Amino acid sequence: MERAMVKLENIKKSFSGNEILKGIDLTINTGEVVVILGPSGSGKTTLLRCINFLEAADEGSVTVDDKTVQCKKAGSRDILELRRKTAMVFQNYNLFRNKTLLENVIEGPLVVRRATRKEATDKAVKLLDKVGLGERLDNYPSQVSGGQQQRAGIVRALIMNPEVILFDEPTSALDPELVGEVLATIKAVAKTGITMIVVTHEIAFAREVADRVVFMADGRIVEQGPPGEVIEHPREERTRDFLSRLVGEQAS
Ligand SMILES: Nc1ncnc2c1ncn2[C@@H]1O[C@H](COP(=O)(O)OP(=O)(O)O)[C@@H](O)[C@H]1O
Ligand SMILES: [Mg+2]
Repeated sequence: MERAMVKLENIKKSFSGNEILKGIDLTINTGEVVVILGPSGSGKTTLLRCINFLEAADEGSVTVDDKTVQCKKAGSRDILELRRKTAMVFQNYNLFRNKTLLENVIEGPLVVRRATRKEATDKAVKLLDKVGLGERLDNYPSQVSGGQQQRAGIVRALIMNPEVILFDEPTSALDPELVGEVLATIKAVAKTGITMIVVTHEIAFAREVADRVVFMADGRIVEQGPPGEVIEHPREERTRDFLSRLVGEQAS
């Protein structure tokens, strides 16, 4: 049997009385690449943030690897343990503006993992080189393109050796001509066999890379399945509407 790496049970989250997540159940197997699709405002970012407790859900439980946390009762040690198993790649890269790409990447290992500067630097240089940033180590974020910043953002996640990487619309802040290079990097990461949850509107990428597509709307999972089913033959009206609008946009 396949082993679950992430298990979300009955995740509910409200903001000022507004229920944004309405009881999400989702299990993701080890090594699985899950793409989450859904209209803006459907709760995709909130769901990712509830997995690593950037946001604490009001109800339900989060399991990553062998660690289960009841959201209501999560203590700071539980949260730390979960966070060590996950890494997040943000829409706006979230790099420190006053640090070079190399310094950005070694920050996590130095602060969280207590690695030596030499260990962290050696590993960072290798990883940055792999994503084509070997010549950019000493550049500040403002000196490189958005695509290069996001590739550094991906390396910053990878260097922590997480069990799961959470990507929140990793290419949606990029100029169109830079999207491909970042998607190629994410695809290469997927090939390493790491478990990934990717929120994106890139349908072609989802079709090619996802093992499973989950369509969310209004704080619920509407349908899910292999990309060939959900993208090519959606069962639900809401999924069909969303996809036809999206495909229209991406074709134009
Ligand atoms: N920290 C917050 N405080 C209040 N409302 C929030 C907060 N975070 C998200 N929301 C609201 O929750 C809804 C879902 O947001 P989000 O999870 O960002 O959706 P998506 O990522 O699918 O676009 C939106 O209506 C948003 O305004
Ligand atoms: Mg979002």
